Amino acid sequence: MEGAAEVLRARLSHQPEALLVLGSGLGHLADAVVDATIVPFSDLPDFPVPSVAGHAGRFVQGRLEGRPVLIQQGRYHLYEGHSLDVVTRPVRTARAIGIRTLIVTNAAGGIRRDLEPGSLVAIDDHVNLQFRNPLVGAPRAGEPRFPDMSAPYDAELTALAQRVALDLGIRLTPGVYVAVTGPSYETPAEVRMLERLGADVVGMSTVPEVIAARSAGMRCLGVSLVTNVAAGRSPVRLDHAEVVEVGRRAGATLERLLRGVVAALAPAPGD
Ligand code: HPA
Repeated sequence: MEGAAEVLRARLSHQPEALLVLGSGLGHLADAVVDATIVPFSDLPDFPVPSVAGHAGRFVQGRLEGRPVLIQQGRYHLYEGHSLDVVTRPVRTARAIGIRTLIVTNAAGGIRRDLEPGSLVAIDDHVNLQFRNPLVGAPRAGEPRFPDMSAPYDAELTALAQRVALDLGIRLTPGVYVAVTGPSYETPAEVRMLERLGADVVGMSTVPEVIAARSAGMRCLGVSLVTNVAAGRSPVRLDHAEVVEVGRRAGATLERLLRGVVAALAPAPGD
C-alpha cells in the first residue's frame, strides 16, 4: 500500500479534501474536474487493471467547485475475482495520503416500492451479504481489531447532502443498501428476501470500501443511483448495458448533488 500511496502522493499537486468514488456509468463527473491530474491505476503498484466495461480505472485529481478532490473513476469488484484487499486498495491508498472523507456512489437496484430508475438514495446503513470482510487477517497499523460499525455513514455529511438536495430541488431519500457478490442479478425470490431483511436498494459494491474506510477513521457519505427496479418488480429483464445507460442519463442529477456537497464540505474532524 505504501508503494501506491507514495507514487500517488508524488503525482498530486495539492492535498485532496475528499475521495469521490464514482460507480457504474457515473464516471463523467471526473471530466468536470478543473486542473486535472490523471493517475491511471496501471501506474500504481499492486493496482490491477479493472475488467468491467464502463469502469475506467484511474484517479483524477483536481478542483471541483474550487475544492481539491480526488476522484476514483472505476472500481474493483468482488465479482471480477478480486480479493477484498484489492477492492479496498484505492480507499486505503487515499487514506494513506491523508484523505479523511469518503464520498461513495453506486448504481443499485431499487427494492423499496417508491424507488424507480433515476431515484437517488442517501445510504444511511448497510447489510453485508457478501459474507466477506476486508478486515479479515492481521489488523492494519492504527486500526482496531473490532471496529465499531454503529454509524457507518456519517450523520452530518448525510444531513448536509439532504440540505443540498433540498436547495437544488433533488429528491434524496434515505435507505439501507445491501451488498451482494453478483455478478448475476438477483432472482425475484431473492429480492423478496432482501426486502424482508430490511434492504431498500441492492448492489455489488460499496460495503467493503465503507468498512475499510470506517476502520481507518474516515467519515463516509454514500449515495445510490437507482438504475433499475430490482428483479421481479417489473416485467423487464435486467441488462447491464441498460443499467450503465440509466446511470449515464440520471447521472447528471447525481453530479449536481455531488458538486453541491463538495462545495459545502467542512473539513473532516482532525484535518
Ligand atoms: N442488483 C444488483 N446490483 C445492481 C442492480 C441490481 O438490480 N442494479 C445495479 N446494480
